[in-house]
Amino acid sequence: MSKRTSHYVCQSCGATYAKWAGRCDACGEWSTIVEEALPDAPPGGLGTKGKRSGRGIEFVPLKGQNEQAPRRASGIAEFDRVLGGGLVRGSAVLIGGDPGIGKSTLLLQAAAALSKSGKTGCAYVSGEEAVEQVRLRAERLGLSEAPVELATATNVRELKAALDRPEAPDVVVVDSIQTMYVDSLDSAPGTVSQVRASAQELIRVAKRRGFAVLLVGHVTKEGAIAGPKVLEHMVDTVLTFEGERGHQFRILRAVKNRFGPTDEIGVFEMTDGGLIEVPNPSELFLAERHGDVSGACVFAGLEGTRPLLVEIQALVAPSPLGTPRRAVVGWDGNRLAMVLAVLEARCGVSVAGQDIYLNVAGGLRVAEPAADLAVAAALLSAVSDRPAPGETVIFGEVGLSGEVRAVGQTDVRLKEAAKLGFTRALCPAARGRKTRPPRGIALQEVAALGDLVEIFL
Ligand code: TYD
Ligand code: MG
Repeated sequence: MSKRTSHYVCQSCGATYAKWAGRCDACGEWSTIVEEALPDAPPGGLGTKGKRSGRGIEFVPLKGQNEQAPRRASGIAEFDRVLGGGLVRGSAVLIGGDPGIGKSTLLLQAAAALSKSGKTGCAYVSGEEAVEQVRLRAERLGLSEAPVELATATNVRELKAALDRPEAPDVVVVDSIQTMYVDSLDSAPGTVSQVRASAQELIRVAKRRGFAVLLVGHVTKEGAIAGPKVLEHMVDTVLTFEGERGHQFRILRAVKNRFGPTDEIGVFEMTDGGLIEVPNPSELFLAERHGDVSGACVFAGLEGTRPLLVEIQALVAPSPLGTPRRAVVGWDGNRLAMVLAVLEARCGVSVAGQDIYLNVAGGLRVAEPAADLAVAAALLSAVSDRPAPGETVIFGEVGLSGEVRAVGQTDVRLKEAAKLGFTRALCPAARGRKTRPPRGIALQEVAALGDLVEIFL
């Protein structure tokens, strides 16, 4: 009889079975049993288990010198910053994003940039495209001269055989993990068990040989294909590549990073010739701003360590519907409901019977509570049909009792506003020490949402 190489594991309780079943007998959950590869036997065989006492581990003091993790920077500053300064040796990075968002393009550009110095060997393994297609893409991007090694592979065993050698490349891109399969499992590529087993194998080789592995993972809105969610705990760094389809901006965001900060973003602009770095995103996001229209104001936000000025637009119109519409793009709909409720309950500004549309211009997604005050200002400006005060940036968090709360990094926000020629800032009263605004900016402190209403109505 051939040796069994896989078993079935309930993803809910961990019970194992020799055969697949629809329902787990142990915990009663349905559709949780998934085929998984059996772990390799420990060295020395199973027979030695529990007999040897093992070599004791060695404790070291917390205080001590670490070797600096050697990093490989690609020279694409937006990419390197999100990684925390470059790719760490032996690390695994997952890059998730919707199909067609530009992951393959980004990674081919990154691989080309990394290999350009001649010191970093890069391999690009495609499971989705033929070598000719990747070459055509490289030609379009003007990268055909880059010394990147190309291969097409979907079988992890073959890929492992090629990479598990001392002269392995320093950086390996695998595009995408959903196309890879381990031949000891019966399930189709792209299923949870295949995605997980393939990633596990590749990461193990990467750690052993010390190369950085970049795994591409597609996410689908419905989650029909096993998304990279199952991989997030296996890799060192999770990046997401996002953007609105109709917009030319793409944002690379670190969601998890063992070797650097999270919340850091890299901004790119999509062009015919590939992705271009955007070193000063605020300028780009404000480029199409028209000064004197009602319902728009500029929010001085922060993405990671970087200030980002964006325009927030609101439109308030009489609703023909029984339940008025609340449409939000780029912000949290629940947060809008809260700001509206505070405006109504604490400041007497009613928008009942009105449709409300809120948009963050440029396709950016804002997640900071500091945007509350800017949203309230855009709404008030739309309701009163009066433009917001000119050349003014706004930020601050709004509490349920209508108070405006201080937010972090006021100095950084104000400095960016001054740099872009703004002359005034509406912001919360500073906690503790007084804020010294940069030259050219007049501060107007807003203690409660009522103060803002007075400015606008
Ligand atoms: P692609 O990198 O293939 O997306 P993904 O790997 O995430 O599925 O890019 C999708 C398409 O967009 C492809 O036809 C190339 C095009 N594209 C550009 O023309 N310019 C760009 O800057 C980018 C990122 C993509
Ligand atoms: Mg692709």
